[in-house]
Amino acid sequence: MSEIKNNTVLSGVQPSGDLHIGNYLGAIKNFVRLQKDYSCFFCIVDLHAITVKQDPKILRKNTLEVAATYIASGIDPKKSVVFNQSSISAHSELAWIFNCVTRMGWLNRMTQFKDKAGKDKENASSGLFIYPNLMAADILIYKATHVPVGNDQKQHLELTRDIAQKFNRDFKCENFFPIPEPIIDNDISRIMSLKDGTQKMSKSDLSENSRISLLDESDEIIKKIKKAKTADTVMPDKIEEILKISEINNLLNIYAGFSEVQKDILIDKYKGQNFSKFKADLSDIIVDQLKPITAEIKKLMQDEGYLLEILLEGQNKASEVAQKTINEVYDIVGLLRNET
Ligand code: TYM
Repeated sequence: MSEIKNNTVLSGVQPSGDLHIGNYLGAIKNFVRLQKDYSCFFCIVDLHAITVKQDPKILRKNTLEVAATYIASGIDPKKSVVFNQSSISAHSELAWIFNCVTRMGWLNRMTQFKDKAGKDKENASSGLFIYPNLMAADILIYKATHVPVGNDQKQHLELTRDIAQKFNRDFKCENFFPIPEPIIDNDISRIMSLKDGTQKMSKSDLSENSRISLLDESDEIIKKIKKAKTADTVMPDKIEEILKISEINNLLNIYAGFSEVQKDILIDKYKGQNFSKFKADLSDIIVDQLKPITAEIKKLMQDEGYLLEILLEGQNKASEVAQKTINEVYDIVGLLRNET
């Protein structure tokens, strides 16, 4: 049986279009940092995307766009394994096993299903309901020990840990699956809408002014930050006061996330001032950091052949590990396989 490597990272992003600075700060920026110390698998989770309706042509383009975004942001495909989920069938095979491990009660507690299914639960796809089992399979098929994600994925990670524990216990194979740890950076793990500090910044928000897309041009970024909701006060001087005004706290988190300057230093710099200078500096920093990334995404999107090559290379590397795990799982579960 293959031993558990104690430093493997896996994470994924859905190719559902319009990646924004929430995805970047909450997840992708961390992926880049982790490459240095971990063996990393970064997946484009196309099978998760189809749990809601997708246009096939746009799905294909969006899949390439996530690959381009990974690379443009600094993921090195020679160091990290970059691939699309559907190219490795072992993810779906393990997900089926987990469908039989996870209890209905566990899935019934998932808040993201409730949010996404909305009022019309009866009409949601069954894929959307069992989505967390596929996510657990994405992680555990590589025996990943660490999972960098935004705060909205925390509950799914907890479920993954429960699944790993139950599988190990039910099949008496202690330590077969590691119990993966989330890597969630508190302040930037939940970037909020620019229009409403109580709502998460999201691809599906109808208002484009609620988010900064990684493909936005500089003038759009400046405009959106200018329009971002603040308050009819000056910048408070105490963090306790700031935490009470979620829109201001959010802009500070974004500033700190991009600049890597600590929030208390930023508060000290802008306290007592109105928000115009703060906003101008904030958009400068975002533009500065995003401009080269945006340009590179657009350039890479012109070279589909190169992106497909990277995905194929990733697929080859990922499949070696995934196939080994699924063979072990079939054995453990008692599913007969005729080796040829
Ligand atoms: P997805 O595609 O919705 O989002 C990708 C990553 O971006 C983070 N994120 C945010 N972080 C901070 N603030 C926000 N406003 C914000 N919005 C999104 C998400 O937390 C995520 O880390 N189920 C996952 C994809 C997935 C996955 C996995 C992740 C599938 N399999 C295995 C980790 C491991 C999702 O829908 O992410």
